[in-house]
Amino acid sequence: MSNKPLKGLKIIDFTHVQAGPACTQMLAWFGADVIKVERPGSGDVTRSQLRDIPNVDALYFTMLNSNKRSLTLDTKKPEGKAVLEKMIKESDVLVENFGPGALDRMGFSWERIQELNPRLILASVKGFSDGHEYEDLKVYENVAQCAGGAASTTGWWKGEQAGPMISAAALGDTNTGMHLAIGILTAYIGRQQTGKGQKVAVAMQDAVLNLCRVKMRDQLRLDNLGFLEEYPQYPHEMEAFADKVTPRGGNAGGGGQPGWILKCKGWQTDPNAYIYFTVQGHAWEPICDAIGKPEWKTDPAYTTPKARQPHIMDIFGTIEDWLKDKTKYEAVNILRKFDIPCAPVFSMKELLHDKSLRKSGSIVEVPHKERGSYWTVGSPIKFSDLKPEVTASPLLGEHTDEVLAELGYNKEQIAAMHAAKAV
Ligand SMILES: CC(C)(COP(=O)(O)OP(=O)(O)OC[C@H]1O[C@@H](n2cnc3c(N)ncnc32)[C@H](O)[C@@H]1OP(=O)(O)O)[C@@H](O)C(=O)NCCC(=O)NCCS
Repeated sequence: MSNKPLKGLKIIDFTHVQAGPACTQMLAWFGADVIKVERPGSGDVTRSQLRDIPNVDALYFTMLNSNKRSLTLDTKKPEGKAVLEKMIKESDVLVENFGPGALDRMGFSWERIQELNPRLILASVKGFSDGHEYEDLKVYENVAQCAGGAASTTGWWKGEQAGPMISAAALGDTNTGMHLAIGILTAYIGRQQTGKGQKVAVAMQDAVLNLCRVKMRDQLRLDNLGFLEEYPQYPHEMEAFADKVTPRGGNAGGGGQPGWILKCKGWQTDPNAYIYFTVQGHAWEPICDAIGKPEWKTDPAYTTPKARQPHIMDIFGTIEDWLKDKTKYEAVNILRKFDIPCAPVFSMKELLHDKSLRKSGSIVEVPHKERGSYWTVGSPIKFSDLKPEVTASPLLGEHTDEVLAELGYNKEQIAAMHAAKAV
């Protein structure tokens, strides 16, 4: 058993769906005592959404709520409110991601929470920040990707697929939860200095925007220069920059080195027979050697990034030609010897069965009372003195009586709460 640094940190997990649960799950992996508070009877909506086995918690729930305990509580009933008040008095953090104003309407405004426990850290996810002109909106993942700049800068700028595009990665949900976790730990360290809790808020729009930093950089460069030299539109489609709005760049690299997704052997039938290939400026000579084009090392049309850029797509075409008889794995095995930044495009199926990911604990199998077991994504953060152990997500209300007893309620009081349907 490794040391768990967050042991003793008591968290009221008043979250649902993905953004909040991803945050509290991570803190639970690192040792926090996370008590998920759920509506009696139904619980977190993800328990029943997109089920793969009838009447058993869906994977959406199990994969976002491991290592937690579950308490059912109707916080709109007086008995439920009283329990939540007691929990607030005895906990370190309350995390919530309800729609705007829901916690206030329930009677737990920030002012009231401070009265109950001035040491408590209140951590919230909302779609937009406090005071924002859209602060009243409810927000889900894709809405946040649109509001935070990811959708307008992702996808194709021409052709049938042109238009804003959503990423499959949870830039709005889990990403916001990760930002919130950093905020919670910061407020916790702050409390060790001041003795006071504080309110920590992360808006999904802001968390997406924080990941779109380089696209904001491009907007600022575009304002100054009128074009973006590393975009695939440069220099043949300069009209793409005419409105001085950061265009979509397809699969182009976002940094100083051009890159693209290239076809490998079998792409005609395998939708993921591709690699990502990066042309690092200082690695040009090894690239020429790797792909059998030594003459490019001295040809002035190829020797500098500036000289290559006007025909970079032709260069990628030549590399694709070289890739024709190589699988994505064979290609990477050759390119790695030349120190070229590249990787296969992995499917979810490949990732699920990946030996390295299973060995490192990034993909783990977790025993579960009703499912038998489930596979999930483990901690992406690795420590030298902590090996996060992923344990099952709780059944709905599995720990209700246990948590109530810990709060000091006796058997009769607990029975009365059940009778009143408050738990
Ligand atoms: C995700 C979201 C769109 C879902 O909206 P929703 O399903 O309509 O749910 P809400 O969060 O608004 O909550 C609905 C109600 O349930 C109530 N509720 C929740 N848990 C309860 C409990 N244990 N007991 C009693 N009532 C409860 C809330 O108080 C709220 O009541 P009210 O609106 O009457 O005041 C919304 O919660 C939201 O915008 N959250 C913030 C942004 C966010 O995190 N989005 C990403 C989710 S992955």
